[in-house]
Amino acid sequence: MLNVVVIGVGTISEMHLKSYVNNRNVQLYGVCDVNEARAKEKATTYNALNVYTSTKDVFADPNVDAVSICTWNQTHAHLSIAALEAGKHVLVEKPIAMTVEEAERIQRAAEKSEAILQVGYVRRFGTNTEVLKSFVDQGRLGDLYYAKASCLRRIGNPGGWFADKERSGGGPLIDLGVHVIDICWYLMGRPKVKVITGHVYDYLGNRGNIEHLSFYKAADYDQSKNTVEDLANALITFENGASLMVDVSYSLHAKNDELAVKLFGTKGGAELEPELLMVTEENNTILNVEPQINHRSFDFTNAFQNQINAFVDACITGGPSPAPVEDGVELMKILEGVYTASLQKYPVQL
Ligand SMILES: NC(=O)c1ccc[n+]([C@@H]2O[C@H](COP(=O)([O-])OP(=O)(O)OC[C@H]3O[C@@H](n4cnc5c(N)ncnc54)[C@H](O)[C@@H]3O)[C@@H](O)[C@H]2O)c1
Repeated sequence: MLNVVVIGVGTISEMHLKSYVNNRNVQLYGVCDVNEARAKEKATTYNALNVYTSTKDVFADPNVDAVSICTWNQTHAHLSIAALEAGKHVLVEKPIAMTVEEAERIQRAAEKSEAILQVGYVRRFGTNTEVLKSFVDQGRLGDLYYAKASCLRRIGNPGGWFADKERSGGGPLIDLGVHVIDICWYLMGRPKVKVITGHVYDYLGNRGNIEHLSFYKAADYDQSKNTVEDLANALITFENGASLMVDVSYSLHAKNDELAVKLFGTKGGAELEPELLMVTEENNTILNVEPQINHRSFDFTNAFQNQINAFVDACITGGPSPAPVEDGVELMKILEGVYTASLQKYPVQL
């Protein structure tokens, strides 16, 4: 049995806790949160054996094999490094950290350690992604040379630490952009990034005066502070000539929320979001193919379970993890590159 402690038991921890409870190779050894009442409540709901309020106690406990880090982004680097140094396997929520410098420090700690570090790129584990990847890997879409991803919320700033740049590192780009950029980059074969053009805007604020339209909020929701962007867009060009266009928002005067991930190849194309669909050509005819699978659209419960199962398997077998630390570092380079390009009003060359 792998003894796991979930650190930070706010909103997203529910998905980790449920998935660990469903994994037969895991004992939910404990939960940890600086908010003791919250930690106790989650321990009761999920039958965790121990309650911690200090991560030092978690890392010092020799019975703990692995941790999920579900705290705000500012803590990811120092908690991941401390856990790895204590020999614990780590599943760290996305983004891996707030800066490239922090991400590279985590990478060095992971390389020194025998333990696994997996990044919480949960969208890699959706059935829609797994099915599409099997077609991409067989070359059925040819070379993917263009991708386009949007995750636009009209009114959906999660508030609290998400809106506080000191604790989050940024707004929708680092929070939502990381998911859609990663999934395109992963399916495109993880090409090396060459040039990043990007813009971030903070004209609208948190829009706390208007009814919140997105379901997602930080456990300690608070709309009094907002120091993050409300919209970001980018054009990312890769060394192999492929390109990716992305836009993400917490607040935008748009008619609808939008979630779209599209990939275009030399033999065919695909829409991963909102629902998996593949585009191909046969007998001088274009075919839009709808796979007959469960979860054609991304399903949180199913994808989280697959993600946790993959992490547990990697811990037990010694890996490799399907979302390794180096992918965390590469994504961090893209995210930081977009912020830098916007600030300097000039593209970033990597
Ligand atoms: N994979 C996904 O789809 C997804 C979705 C949402 C959030 N996330 C990520 O998960 C992480 C947490 O987000 P959330 O929405 O659950 O936030 P949240 O604010 O709801 O919960 C964070 C919890 O961490 C606790 N905490 C903070 N610092 C701590 C520390 N040093 N030690 C112990 N506990 C500490 C807080 O008290 C809080 O209970 C973030 O990195 C976020 O980007 C991922």
